[in-house]
Amino acid sequence: MRKILITGGAGFVGRHFTRHFLEAGDEVHVIDPIERYTGGVDPADGWPLFEPRDYANFKFEKIDCRDYFRGHDNTEFDYALHLAAMVGGRLMIENNPLVVADDLSIDAAYWQWAKRAKPRKTICFSSSAAYPIKLQRPDHYVLLKEDMIDFSNDIGMPDMSYGWAKLTCEYLARLAYARHGLKSVAYRPFSGYGEDQDDTYPFPSICKRAIANKGGAELSVWGSGTQMRDFIHIDDCVRGVIATMDKIDDGDAINLSTGIFTSFIEFARLAAELVGYRPVVKGMSDKPVGVHARGGDTGKQNALGFKYGLDFRAGVGRALRYYDATASSPPLAAGA
Ligand SMILES: NC(=O)c1ccc[n+]([C@@H]2O[C@H](COP(=O)([O-])OP(=O)(O)OC[C@H]3O[C@@H](n4cnc5c(N)ncnc54)[C@H](O)[C@@H]3O)[C@@H](O)[C@H]2O)c1
Repeated sequence: MRKILITGGAGFVGRHFTRHFLEAGDEVHVIDPIERYTGGVDPADGWPLFEPRDYANFKFEKIDCRDYFRGHDNTEFDYALHLAAMVGGRLMIENNPLVVADDLSIDAAYWQWAKRAKPRKTICFSSSAAYPIKLQRPDHYVLLKEDMIDFSNDIGMPDMSYGWAKLTCEYLARLAYARHGLKSVAYRPFSGYGEDQDDTYPFPSICKRAIANKGGAELSVWGSGTQMRDFIHIDDCVRGVIATMDKIDDGDAINLSTGIFTSFIEFARLAAELVGYRPVVKGMSDKPVGVHARGGDTGKQNALGFKYGLDFRAGVGRALRYYDATASSPPLAAGA
């Protein structure tokens, strides 16, 4: 039985890793204060997709990881997944940049603790928001490659305070390895999605709007709707990490992506089609849009032995069926 620490483990990503490691028979320590405006769900309220409290090897402490770190210098972990962050959707990133900057303090506390407690391996969640925004503009966008962030030369301007914090965390991971021999790997997930994601994210909100508007002539999406993202299912994110996490030790980064750009308009059309109607999809220009196009090159993850498995159409269909089954709306069309 391995001993696993997951900071921020009650959040969207963390719940899926918690499930993976519990099912593998590991002892899983989830440290999470369930911060407001995040996707954190208190186990006491029941998690949407499974019940962690059914497992004797599930250990939960409702506490800020910075406080937890102060009392656990001698606790040995095989893997520490550092997910704790003030994230939220686009509104949080745009409107509360100083709240999000708390991530700098969370990450500094993590690495200072890691130096003392020496977890055997750190799995660090950075983000695609760390990439330079100059490579994500309407007039110039590319699939983002890991080496487009070059700490020895040009790191570029990342996306708001969230991107800064993630860049800094990656930099600290490299220093921790170079100066203290602490092994880690950093992941840059693109738009991770899944049926239990918080409603402040585009994925559940577009799917649920498509269901609620069933049969309507119009469906709305945020921004112009032409902004594009690279959607990767959370199950693939977990698979990708498990397949590659022992292959890098020096803090180097790996994308978790599909390499496919999907615009919000295309996404909404697909969701409506699977629900069974064909509305005109319109942008809501008063809502924040973020960068124009953010997609991740897949060469490195493929070379390390991982390729995503669930295509977006299947992932949207799966979520629509889940929302349909858990809400009291009329049943979906057969194609969903
Ligand atoms: N979901 C994605 O697609 C995606 C993409 C890129 C990066 N990430 C990264 O993955 C990680 C998890 O993201 P998520 O989508 O699950 O977000 P989330 O909001 O669902 O979960 C974050 C969790 O961190 C907890 N948290 C906040 N401050 C904490 C603290 N001081 N101590 C302990 N826990 C704290 C929150 O309570 C919440 O449960 C984050 O680091 C995020 O930046 C996620």
